Amino acid sequence: MQLYKIAKPFILTIFGASGDLAKIKLFPALYSLMEQKRLPKEFYIVGFARTEKSDKEFKKEFTDSIKENQNEPTDKKILFELEKHVYYFKGQYNDLKDFQNFKEYLKNLTGEKSLITLAYFSVPPIVFEDIIKNLGTTKEKNEDIRLIMEKPFGEDQKSAKNLFHFVARYFDEDSIYLLDHYLGKSSVQSILHLRHSNRILNLMMKGPEISNIQITAFEKLGVTKRTGYFDQVGTIKDMIQSHLMQILALLTMSIPITENTESLHREKYSILSALKFIESEKNIVLGQYEGYKKEKGIPKNSKTETFAAIRLFIDRESWYKTPIYIRTGKKLHEKHTYIVIELKKFAFQPKDEQPNRLIIELQPEEKINIRLVNKHGSSSDYQQITTSDSIACTGDDCLPEHGLLILDVIRKNHINFLSFEEIISTWKLTDSIVNFMRKNSVKIEKYKDESTGPESQNKLTEIDNFEWFDIH
Ligand code: BG6
Repeated sequence: MQLYKIAKPFILTIFGASGDLAKIKLFPALYSLMEQKRLPKEFYIVGFARTEKSDKEFKKEFTDSIKENQNEPTDKKILFELEKHVYYFKGQYNDLKDFQNFKEYLKNLTGEKSLITLAYFSVPPIVFEDIIKNLGTTKEKNEDIRLIMEKPFGEDQKSAKNLFHFVARYFDEDSIYLLDHYLGKSSVQSILHLRHSNRILNLMMKGPEISNIQITAFEKLGVTKRTGYFDQVGTIKDMIQSHLMQILALLTMSIPITENTESLHREKYSILSALKFIESEKNIVLGQYEGYKKEKGIPKNSKTETFAAIRLFIDRESWYKTPIYIRTGKKLHEKHTYIVIELKKFAFQPKDEQPNRLIIELQPEEKINIRLVNKHGSSSDYQQITTSDSIACTGDDCLPEHGLLILDVIRKNHINFLSFEEIISTWKLTDSIVNFMRKNSVKIEKYKDESTGPESQNKLTEIDNFEWFDIH
C-alpha cells in the first residue's frame, strides 16, 4: 500500500514552541514524518514564542527534544535535513503589531507564496483568545489557515462555550481542528474498527450482554514540570474529561453505517450526552500521591487529586444498569492503559466462576484478548482459555499520534478530531462531578508513590459485586 505523503508546501507555526507539549509530542512526530519521507521538499516549521532566541538556539532545542523523546535512536542525517526547515520568531501573543510583522516575516521566508498554514497551539488556555484574535485579524482573504488546538478547551462548560463562540468569530468550523491526542493513537482508532468489522465482537459488545466496563489508565510519571497547569485542573479534568471519555464513547456509541465525520461525531455526541454520574460519595474515589506536595511548585496545602476513580451509567435503554468504572492516576506502579469488558453470566453459573472477558490493551502494548471459561478435565476446577493477539501497528508506516493527526489536517479530514458539541457534553458531565466533589469536600486519600493507588478504589466496584480486573 502506498503511504500518504504531503505533496504541497506548507508552514507549521507553533505557538508556545518552548512548551512541553511541543517538545514531547510534536517535534518527535515531525521527525517520524521526515523519516518516513512523508514531508514535501518545501515546508517551514516556525516556532513563535515570547522568549528572545535565535534560529540556531531554537534548532538545537528542537533536535535535542527529538533525541530525548524519540523512542528509537535518531538518525543524524534525518535530523540534519529536518533542522534545515526550522525557524524561530519572537513575538507577544497579545500584540497585533507582532502578528503583522510575523506575516511579513513569513512572506519573506516563503518568497511571497501563499501556502497552507497550520497554526498549532502549544500554549496555556489563557492565551488562546489573544492568538485567535490576532491571527484572525491579520488573516488575508482566501488565506488557508488551519488551527490545531489541543486540550484543555476551557476549564468548564461555560468557558469552553465562550472559547468556541470566540473562535467562531474569526474562523470557520472547517478550519478548526480540536485535537485529543488519544484519537491519534492507532490502538484507540482500532476500537471502532474492531467493533465494525467483527460481527462476533459486535454482538458481544452490546449493553444487554455486558455486566460492566472498566477503563484503566495508570501512569508511572508524576506531575512532571507541568505543576502550574496540573495543580489547577487535577486528574478528572486532565484525563477523564477528554481522553477516557473518548475511549468510552468509541466503545459504546452506535456505529454509523457510513463512516463519515458528521455521522461519527453525531453518534459520539449522542452517547457522551447520555453519560450520567449519580451524585453520591459511593461513586467517586480520589487520591493524591504522597510525594505530590513535595514536587517543586505545588502548594503545601494542595487539594488536587492525582488519582480518580468514578462509577458512571449511560442513560439509554440498552445500557440500563451497566456500570462503567473509570480509574486513572499519576505516579503509579506502571504505565498501562486498558479496557476490560465483562460479559454477563448465566443465572445458573456458580457465583465464583470468572466471567468471560474481552480485554483491549492500548498501551504500552497494543493487544486484544478474549478470556473464556472452560471446565478442566474431570475435576471441578475451571480454566481460563485466553486467545490473545497483538493489534500493534508495526513496520515503517507506524506514526505517533501527532504525526497521524497532522496528516489528517493536511487532508482536511476531521474524523479523528473532536466536535464542539462533544466537548461541551463531556464538560457538562465533568462539571457535575467536580461540583459534587467540591460541595461535599470528597475525601482525598493518600497513596504511596509507585503503588496501585488508593485502597478504597475497590469499594466502587464492590457496590455491584464486581472487582477491578488487574492485568499482570
Ligand atoms: C495529557 C495529560 O493530555 O495526556 C497528561 O495532560 C497525561 O497529564 C498525558 O500524562 C497522557 O498521555 P499518554 O499519551 O502518555 O498516555
